[in-house]
Amino acid sequence: MAASRVNSDRVCARICHKYKYFFYFSFCLLCLQFFIGYNFYAVIQKKLESTEEWKRKAEEQLKRLTPPASFQAKPATFSKVPKKLYHDNEQIHWHIDDSADVKSVPSLNQSDKFKPNADKKMEITCVVDAKEARSAISRAKTVECKQEITKVACLAKEGRLYPTNLTSLCPFKGTYPKGHYFGCYKDVTQQRDLAVVKELAQNSPNNCIEFCLTAGYLYAGLQYTKECWCGDMYGLYDKVLESSCSSKCPGDPTLTCGGYLSQRIFSTGLAEKKKNPAPLVTDVISSSNESTARVRIVFVLTVSGRAVRQVKRLLNNIYHPQHYYYFHVDSRHQYMYMELKPLAEKLPNVRMSGQRFATIWGGASLLEAHFSFIKDLLSFVDWHWDYYINLSESDYPIKTIESLVSYLSKYKGFNFMKSHGRDTPTFIRKQGLDQNFYECENHLWRIGHRELPKGIRFDGGSDWVGLYRDFCSYALNSEDEVVIGLKQMFSYTLLPVESFFHILLHNSVFCGMWADNNLHMTNWRRKQGCKCQYKHIVDWCGCSPNDFHAEDFDKILNYEGKPIFFARKFEPVVDQEIINMMDIHLFGGKYQDTISFKYFWQNEYHHLDKSTTGNDVTRTFYDSFIRRTVRLFQSKSSRCALKVKEILEVNLLFYLDHFNGLVVQFNASLSEWQKSVPIEILVQQKHYYKILNPEGHIGRLQNLEIK
Ligand SMILES: *[C@@H]1O[C@H](CO)[C@@H](O)[C@H](O)[C@H]1NC(C)=O
Ligand SMILES: *[C@@H]1O[C@H](CO)[C@@H](O)[C@H](O)[C@H]1NC(C)=O
Ligand SMILES: *[C@@H]1O[C@H](CO)[C@@H](O)[C@H](O)[C@H]1NC(C)=O
Ligand SMILES: *[C@@H]1O[C@H](CO)[C@@H](O)[C@H](O)[C@H]1NC(C)=O
Ligand SMILES: *[C@@H]1O[C@H](CO)[C@@H](O)[C@H](O)[C@H]1NC(C)=O
Repeated sequence: MAASRVNSDRVCARICHKYKYFFYFSFCLLCLQFFIGYNFYAVIQKKLESTEEWKRKAEEQLKRLTPPASFQAKPATFSKVPKKLYHDNEQIHWHIDDSADVKSVPSLNQSDKFKPNADKKMEITCVVDAKEARSAISRAKTVECKQEITKVACLAKEGRLYPTNLTSLCPFKGTYPKGHYFGCYKDVTQQRDLAVVKELAQNSPNNCIEFCLTAGYLYAGLQYTKECWCGDMYGLYDKVLESSCSSKCPGDPTLTCGGYLSQRIFSTGLAEKKKNPAPLVTDVISSSNESTARVRIVFVLTVSGRAVRQVKRLLNNIYHPQHYYYFHVDSRHQYMYMELKPLAEKLPNVRMSGQRFATIWGGASLLEAHFSFIKDLLSFVDWHWDYYINLSESDYPIKTIESLVSYLSKYKGFNFMKSHGRDTPTFIRKQGLDQNFYECENHLWRIGHRELPKGIRFDGGSDWVGLYRDFCSYALNSEDEVVIGLKQMFSYTLLPVESFFHILLHNSVFCGMWADNNLHMTNWRRKQGCKCQYKHIVDWCGCSPNDFHAEDFDKILNYEGKPIFFARKFEPVVDQEIINMMDIHLFGGKYQDTISFKYFWQNEYHHLDKSTTGNDVTRTFYDSFIRRTVRLFQSKSSRCALKVKEILEVNLLFYLDHFNGLVVQFNASLSEWQKSVPIEILVQQKHYYKILNPEGHIGRLQNLEIK
């Protein structure tokens, strides 16, 4: 290639001149072997050299380290619930309930029905009447999926999908036991005594207390027969005579449910909420204490797409031989996997996940995937991690990893998760937690309304978490009723990762080890981000965070004093300048001299990636670029006749966030060369062009594709 590089400028200039008039949309070709080597990779390798010495030190340190006493206690085992509440062989005969509204639901195809199996004994008959389930059955394509949806709908109807009652194992209890009665209190419309209200058709002290307990409130107030109020404080107004609270309960006429602007207040038995133990200041970061043991983190990088360079860049910025890096690449994204695997082979603290999942937005399979990661990670005896931190390719550090480690070391043992806030009933509704979902055919089908298990506190929020090892191990292995029951329920839950760990933490022996911080800031602009963009895969609407742009830099700097270590989303195809700004901010000029600092490239086609590339239109374009190159070579001298072997890969190239061209790489041979060599060409769009034959006809536009 050396020869062609030397000549390239001259050749190009001549070619461009010569062909200027021939194409009304022409391409200038540069035969440049790009040194788009993986610059960042080199940095990683340098770090590798110090690994050995580091390992020795870390091991010494680890010997001195004993876990805090609070974690030695093994959680008590409670009455076990069966792993499954139904038998796999159960045959369900089902039919549509004709009395239900059938307007919007197409009738079911007879051939889709179950074929009863004579030698299976267990049989139940069920009428699928939930309109969501019937709609799902009609839209699903395969018989298997239709059958599974039916089974779930039938079991849900009978309350056999997951336990109806669970017991919290949180040792912290409120001052007053569940059901303690405080008295009848006045209320005022302008400013209510308790925080949120829900109308319960079957209102009764028991039902209202359960409702408020589920929502995580300390007090329940029954008012005006059907109103169930919940709050963490009560007593703004005076206690009144019991006779003001004497309306009968719709759910139990032997009991009373308050009156007009007067309510009966009960305790839910929950413990008072503690202040965040890991306060929202970063004092620890500056005064990092050398004598405290440093935690070790496993970064679980769940990545997909093709932005390999960004993933490596992220890895480089969070890389330290002390920590661990575990990659999961979506099973549909072969190219990314292919590019990351060599890293895992080179570095002892980088591994690829054993099992690969094709997770869908909001799908139950995502939680399953996390359990498989945790299982893997706990089985690596040579990986001594303390924290499980989840990242994706669109996350980027906004502080150094050293500061994160100082922070986590100071609060070692806590689990870092963000709660949605106060109004849990609204969260449950918006999040679809009160609906059953079922995943099949790569789609998440809505099965219909459900009752949440009673007796435990619900919560949820962000799915970006920092989990302590003991809690991970507990969530994976425990046989406690609450763990197994929740896992059953979460196999039928939308966005499971946004609430599973939250709920489990609240209701397990670890309940005191919560820090309400997910270490992340997310660029929400709900007006722009909330659409039903996943409608084709999920029967629900959701929000997605927005990408950061260079002008958001100040917004990120506002988090300087807070223990927020990552932000999302960053997408270099959209805006790489902000990523560069973050790098300069964090590391000074360390990377600024990198040749490709202002470039970004992303693979479009790779000959070894059979699964995700293969659009005929684009292939045709790549072929014609190569043909042009061959002709240009040939026109120079017949000795330069190239024989094209194969397109190797095509990358999109960006410079300063503008599309700069396509880099097409192919193998070719010359008659005088022994073997084929890879040639890389940069194909750029010409900014000025002339129509070459103004008088003649311009043919019809054959094809135009814009992506
Ligand atoms: C029922 O489904 C089968 C395939 O599952 C199809 O061949 C048939 O045409 C369908 N019948 C009706 C009435 O839709
Ligand atoms: C669940 O708890 C309620 C009271 O909270 C009780 O009435 C009911 O029988 C329990 N159900 C089961 C299946 O234990
Ligand atoms: C550092 O940690 C040790 C042991 O945990 C503690 O005794 C000491 O007070 C800490 N020093 C500072 C400055 O935080
Ligand atoms: C981890 O990251 C993915 C995005 O790649 C996210 O969808 C998922 O919910 C996260 N899970 C946890 C446990 O943080
Ligand atoms: C392209 O050529 C190089 C150099 O001869 C060779 O090592 C490589 O295997 C070739 N690639 C393909 C896909 O033929």
